[in-house]
Formats: sequence, C-alpha cells, structure tokens
Amino acid sequence: MSVDTQAQPTQPVKVKPGNIQLDQNGKLRHFLAIEGLPKTVLTQILDTAESFATPREHHGKKVDLLKGHTIANLFFEPSTRTRTTFELAAKRLSADVLNINISASSSSKGETLLDMLRNLEAMHIDMFVVRHGSSGAAHFIANNVPSHVSVLNAGDGSHEHPTQAMLDMFTIRQHKPDFPSLRVAIVGDLMHSRVARSQIHALNTLGVGELRVIAPQTLLPAGVEKLGVQVYQNLEAGIKDVDVIIMLRLQRERMHGAYIPSQGEYFRLYGMTEQRLKLAKPDVIVMHPGPINRGVEMDSAVADGPHSVILEQVSNGIAVRMAAMAMTMRNPDGSSAV
Ligand code: NCD
Repeated sequence: MSVDTQAQPTQPVKVKPGNIQLDQNGKLRHFLAIEGLPKTVLTQILDTAESFATPREHHGKKVDLLKGHTIANLFFEPSTRTRTTFELAAKRLSADVLNINISASSSSKGETLLDMLRNLEAMHIDMFVVRHGSSGAAHFIANNVPSHVSVLNAGDGSHEHPTQAMLDMFTIRQHKPDFPSLRVAIVGDLMHSRVARSQIHALNTLGVGELRVIAPQTLLPAGVEKLGVQVYQNLEAGIKDVDVIIMLRLQRERMHGAYIPSQGEYFRLYGMTEQRLKLAKPDVIVMHPGPINRGVEMDSAVADGPHSVILEQVSNGIAVRMAAMAMTMRNPDGSSAV
C-alpha cells in the first residue's frame, strides 16, 4: 500500500492489524489500532495511565521516563485536543518533541511521505505520532521505520483512533468500573467515525455488558451488527436505561454526498436534549470526543450539564497518551525504554 502525503480522506477500508503492534513477548510495540489487541494489553494501558493521572502529573510535574528520546508529531489533518495532549504527554515524560507543521513542510513541495520519514529518521526520531486522512497510514509508516522506532496512530481516515478510545475507556472506568454490568450507546455518524470503530473494539474486548449503536441507516457502516452491537435507528428506544452515552460528530469532511436531509432534521431525530436524557439511567454519563457541533448532535444544556464528562475526557487524554508512549518507546538496541 502506498500513502500519498496530499491524500484525500478515503472511504473506510479494512486494515488488518496483524501482529505488528506486539513484540515477540506480547508487549505493545506500536499503537495503531484497538482491533487485534488482547484485554491484558488494554488493561495495562489503563493501569499505566492511572499511575500517571495523579494530581502531581496533572499539574505539570515531569517524570524522567523518556528523557533523551525524541518524539515527532506528524499531523496531516487538523487537530486541537489530540495534538496538544500528545505534546503535553511527551513533555510530562521529559521527551523532546517536534511538531511538524505539515502545511508548511516540504510535502507541499511534492516530497513523498517515505522521503519525509527518511529525513526525520536522520534526525534520530524515536517515535512518530501520526494523524492522516488515509485509512492505513499509520500501519504504512510502522512498516517502513527502523526496528527501534515506534508509531502511534492519532487517527487514520475512518479506520481507528486508538488513544481516543482508550481515554474514553479510562473515563468510563473512573465513573463506572464494572464493564460487564454496563449498557453503552454510541450515537451518530458511525459510518465515518474512526473513534467509534476503536471504541466498539475496546468495549467488546473489555467485556461491556451491552453495546448499542444508534444512527440513521445512511450513517451505519455495512455489517456493523457483526461487530457485536445492537443496532437502533430510533434514538429514544436506543438510549432507554443506558449507563453511558457516547455522541459522535457528523464528519462532513468525509461525506461525499447527502447522508442526512439537513442538520435541523438530524438534530430533531438524533440530537441529545435534556428531555431525551431522562430516558437513560439517572446517573448516565454523556461523552463526546470533540469537537462538538452544538445544536447539531447535542444541546448546550447537555454538553455543559451535570451528566457531561466531556472535559474529563480531554484531561484524561494526557495520562492515557503518556501510557501509550511509555509502553511503546524502545531504545536504539530494541530494549524497552521504560
Ligand atoms: C475525533 C477525530 O479526529 O477523529 N476527534 C478527536 O480526535 N478528538 C472525532 C471528530 O473529529 O469528530
């Protein structure tokens, strides 16, 4: 597979994670997708993140774990939360961080992704954090870096966004630790959402009791029911008695054609309001990966209301990304850096 640095977002493609994510001892080597990772690894990410989520680290104190290592953030798509929390996570671990501004880099002069990588490798980068519009881009890079270099997927097309899913699992676990007893609903544009794909794999692997997806037919990926979810097209029925609601943004940048009649019609049928929230369990938590489109997928009264844990998700991104970095970083001789 080749990946063009100026590639447009693609339709969802199936990327087989294979074993490239794990070393011969079953330890996390790259973090590219949730699919294919065992529960032990996901739990280790959550537990490691918990050790970083102390008030001390929350307030900017550094640990020396990745001192002397260099991490490059390569973001080919826009990002606010993900890029900045990856940067903060790297800094809290005392790594050196390079933020490559792709729009101002030589990819705009026609340099290929592989040439860009070779040049960055010549600067002794130890880890690449990659966001790209093409599904499979992070796998492509992981297959083309020297053996001691690690790759973390910060979102590839409509495929996966594994660190987002793990910060979501971390946030759920803080509020509701018993996954087998939970009923979770994911609402909205599942068709284009890499976040939802990663969350479905993570929730299933962690043994969630019941997983529902709620969307109009046009926003459901083909074969979604094979992923161990119950499909609802009616929001009211789908959120009845749920413990966790995850709202998704309409990914207009990945839509080629009309998937919904209008944003107003979408909100009327699928928008989360305080009134509708009453159908869920009284202590339901409401999540959203951001960025929120207020009045499109949810009312401000819900986004800013007592059930919302949306800003906790953002804070938890730092500890979870510290965990992913600490677990995957290797020394030049291939030994674990931590
Ligand atoms: C998500 C993404 O980029 O996939 N955002 C994020 O990383 N926080 C979801 C989205 O863009 O809607």
